[in-house]
Amino acid sequence: MTKLSVNVNKIATLRNARGTNVPNLLNVALDIEKFGAEGITVHPRPDERHITYKDVYKLSKSIDTELNIEGYPNENFMKLVLDVKPHQVTLVPDPPHVLTSNAGWNVLGNKSLLNEVLGEFKKAGIRTSVFMNPSAKEVEEIQYIDVDRIELYTEAYASGFSDKEKAILPFIEAAKIATEMGVGLNAGHDLNLDNLAFFKQNIEGLLEVSIGHALISDSLYYGLDKTVGM
Ligand code: PXP
Repeated sequence: MTKLSVNVNKIATLRNARGTNVPNLLNVALDIEKFGAEGITVHPRPDERHITYKDVYKLSKSIDTELNIEGYPNENFMKLVLDVKPHQVTLVPDPPHVLTSNAGWNVLGNKSLLNEVLGEFKKAGIRTSVFMNPSAKEVEEIQYIDVDRIELYTEAYASGFSDKEKAILPFIEAAKIATEMGVGLNAGHDLNLDNLAFFKQNIEGLLEVSIGHALISDSLYYGLDKTVGM
């Protein structure tokens, strides 16, 4: 079973465009759960240009499925996650003003930071995950940290999808390495209605995908309920 966690940052971006409460982020998240999603993902950025920290506190009190909080572990992020205690925290090596996540961790270069913050989240009973490029060499380095899962960064798969048999290969290899180490597998970025099924068929043991941009965009045509179902 692969769970779908819907990233609702785009809903907050739309709301923030007018400074009102339309669309109502909390109601949309609750509807997304009602339509069948098994989780809600939020990625608060330091400038709060999409999801705000206040949104995360509110969502955490109301949603029934799994909450996944993604982000770079600065001081404010650490406090938020330890306050909210979501089901899962996904650490992403984002510089503050980056448009969207664009790379996985260099684990060896950040080993002491990662071990320190992963240890704190573990102590708090929060499942941990780190965002990783689909590189066998990089994924092998997770042996130096204590983490429950990795999230494979799927941008290269999505952009290479016209030759999908080739694009999937590094993901199969990276997934195998993580699985052999007993580390669970998530995936996300640029997954959509066209490329998701082939990814899932080829990545054994895929536990969760987090999808935002394409899912919200497709909802303009199909509606949110149908898109979540699809
Ligand atoms: N995973 C991570 C770490 C992300 O930063 C994002 C985008 O915020 C996603 C998954 C979802 O990507 P998309 O919006 O392209 O579906």
